[in-house]
Amino acid sequence: MAERDPHTPPERPSEPRPSGILNVPEGLSTPEAWLNPFDWYAEMRATDPVHWDDDRECWDVFRHADVSAVLSDPQTFSSDPRNASNETFRRASEGVEMETMLGRDPPRHEHLRGVVEEYFRPRAIADLAPRIEEIATDCLDDVVESGEMDVVADLAYPLPVIVIAELLGIPSEDRETFKRWSYSLVETPTERTEAAASEVQERREQTLEELHEYFDDLIEQRKATPGDDLISNIVTAEIEHRPLTTEEMRGFCVLLLVAGNITTTNLLTNAVWTLTEHPDALAQLRSDRTLSTKAVEEVLRYRSPVQALGRIATRDVTLGDQTIRQGDVVVTWLGSANRDPDAFDRPDEFVVDRMPNQHLAFGRGIHYCLGAPLARLETRLALSALLDRVDDIEATTTADQLTPVRSAFIYGVESFPVRFVGPETDLRRRRAA
Ligand code: HEM
Repeated sequence: MAERDPHTPPERPSEPRPSGILNVPEGLSTPEAWLNPFDWYAEMRATDPVHWDDDRECWDVFRHADVSAVLSDPQTFSSDPRNASNETFRRASEGVEMETMLGRDPPRHEHLRGVVEEYFRPRAIADLAPRIEEIATDCLDDVVESGEMDVVADLAYPLPVIVIAELLGIPSEDRETFKRWSYSLVETPTERTEAAASEVQERREQTLEELHEYFDDLIEQRKATPGDDLISNIVTAEIEHRPLTTEEMRGFCVLLLVAGNITTTNLLTNAVWTLTEHPDALAQLRSDRTLSTKAVEEVLRYRSPVQALGRIATRDVTLGDQTIRQGDVVVTWLGSANRDPDAFDRPDEFVVDRMPNQHLAFGRGIHYCLGAPLARLETRLALSALLDRVDDIEATTTADQLTPVRSAFIYGVESFPVRFVGPETDLRRRRAA
């Protein structure tokens, strides 16, 4: 391909492509690459850090400084998909992001965030600690004797979904359905074809219909008889003396259920995965539990559950040596920023007590993850409960046997089987006999 003068914005096709932006970038064209995107990131940071993808018709941004600059400037880089000139992107975002704080700019963003902010402040979240410990203990009670478990199915999935369901005031027994819904909303096609992209899009639309039906019923119930749960708070809230629109109420429920769920599942799984891969770090953490805060931050950096975030340029702007045009979609690669050697020493090493650690795993700026204190607490308490119950833990699959979650933008695995030894396990008793 001929070199393009960076100061000349790329040519756009006259007709929008049907799939385009819904596809994954070429560097991530296979699910195997989803588990090891780091070589591609390194190459892009070094050779083309602000890259125009002609196929997806969007920019990809890879360096820590550039990602940070984009996320810190919401006036120039909007979160509202309606600002995109890419029609496919606008349509795909409808219903998922438009009516939530995630897909809004100030002042609406600030107003919506204000509706639930109180619930997620570190002090309010700290009150949940005993219940989180209880759920983690219950999850482990079910498996610890057998001496083995699937970290995803037995601990990392149920724990956050039960916590968020209780906060929202919805029955956690529906959690298998929540899981299907959540993964469907973040799913990306496994092949770079029109057919694969439209299949994923169809599943997503179907999921949204089901979610709307589910939450519309709940919203009506809570309007009639409000309780002290988060949904009741959302349906009775007022912004400038007006209730939220039905779309915004639904959007809130969907956002909190999805955001509070698979991301934390992947953080906790990635933590166990990384620690079993680095036995010295695991031993260090076991002997000094005060390290757990730093260890969780390092997992967030090293295996970031959210790999990429999208923004839309609201004006022509220069980033690196490229000219980005108003309306262009800009994808910031958090997973790459978090491995940038200009921001971190030994970026490809897992350093359990890394300090400082300016990772971008929870984003940056006004959209900084609202649930960060909750995700951190759940992960620390679950790891602690696990270390209390088992003396040694090891993975029972090799890295090449792991299956990535069905999304190029969410980093994690579908299952992570482990075996462990501990005072309560059969294995220990058998060894002693
Ligand atoms: C490890 C777990 C998590 C990760 C890695 C994560 C990551 C992120 C990131 C990167 C953003 C920024 C999005 C953007 O700038 O466009 C974000 C926003 C958000 N997160 Fe999380 N998240 C996690 C857990 C949670 C939890 C547990 C909740 C709630 C229960 C939550 C609720 C939200 C909400 C509501 C926003 C939107 C904030 C806004 O637009 O102002 N997240 N999250």
